[in-house]
Amino acid sequence: MPYEDDEWIGGRIGIGEGKIVFASKPYKPCATEFIGRDVELDTIIAAWMTGSGELPLAPLLVGEPGIGKNRIVYEAAKKTGRNLYIFQGHEDVTAEDLACAVRFSDNPDHKMDYVVSPLVTAMMRGDICFIDEIAKIRTRALALLVSVLDERRYIDSTLLGERISAKEGFRFIAATNSADLEGNLMPEFLRSRLRPVINIGYPSREEIDEIVTTRLPHLQICIKQLVEKFWIFWNKKGRTQSPTPRDAIYVFSLASSLADYDEVRQSIPEDGEINFIIPKRTTNVNENHLKKAFEEIFRD
Ligand SMILES: Nc1ncnc2c1ncn2[C@@H]1O[C@H](COP(=O)(O)OP(=O)(O)OP(=O)(O)O)[C@@H](O)[C@H]1O
Ligand SMILES: [Mg+2]
Repeated sequence: MPYEDDEWIGGRIGIGEGKIVFASKPYKPCATEFIGRDVELDTIIAAWMTGSGELPLAPLLVGEPGIGKNRIVYEAAKKTGRNLYIFQGHEDVTAEDLACAVRFSDNPDHKMDYVVSPLVTAMMRGDICFIDEIAKIRTRALALLVSVLDERRYIDSTLLGERISAKEGFRFIAATNSADLEGNLMPEFLRSRLRPVINIGYPSREEIDEIVTTRLPHLQICIKQLVEKFWIFWNKKGRTQSPTPRDAIYVFSLASSLADYDEVRQSIPEDGEINFIIPKRTTNVNENHLKKAFEEIFRD
């Protein structure tokens, strides 16, 4: 049976007395250059360091959408050489979702398969679990995390009928958007276990320049002038802080795509098909492309 070929399944693991379950798959981020954030990264890795048998801390990253919370976690996993298992928080997560799910089996000898969550997989393998958007998860579900994040380091799954204890290497980190923390919706039993709280602020102008320059290497020839123009547009908007890395990347990516589109349109007949995979991207990105992209992305 083609279990192992399933895109989202990360192999089998034994649990309890002879029970075989399916694991979640780790996330392998693509390798674009990581800029700055030394202090935040050092704080996370230091919080995870302990002596044998001691309780590591579980940091909470807080910041605006697109500021780079996920990216810092990917970097922390890379730096520590651990696999990273991501659980996406949302309003409909149940306590059992945090531990285990079942699905109809492809194996005719089984009715159902158990698939353990990213959290339980990380606990069983001694790797890192990242719960993103944790403040969106309802209190009832979050209660299951309490025993994971204190000295007990275990989780009880009703579905599996098992208690799973974390391996020594297991580490935990969570993130939330600043707005979701307002109104104190995250229960105190969890907040007090998520320490340190690391605020992810806006990058400096130099860091934004470096992020867009390294992210769009095909624009090497014109990026310097484009970046200068970008800051002129930005200052005209009267903003005091930098944009988020995501917005800055989007502006330059869209400007580049608009330039590609202009070139493609000129080279195909009126009724010709447009292919949006471009073998060689144009370097002819001008101020008009940038201005249009800027206005599209920062349309308030
Ligand atoms: N320090 C950095 N160096 C290079 N690229 C970065 C950096 N920080 C963020 N980015 C890039 O900016 C984009 C947005 O970052 P990310 O997805 O981590 O933000 P986020 O805070 O998790 O956003 P959200 O709250 O919406 O989930 C990504 O493409 C990411 O790779
Ligand atoms: Mg994120």
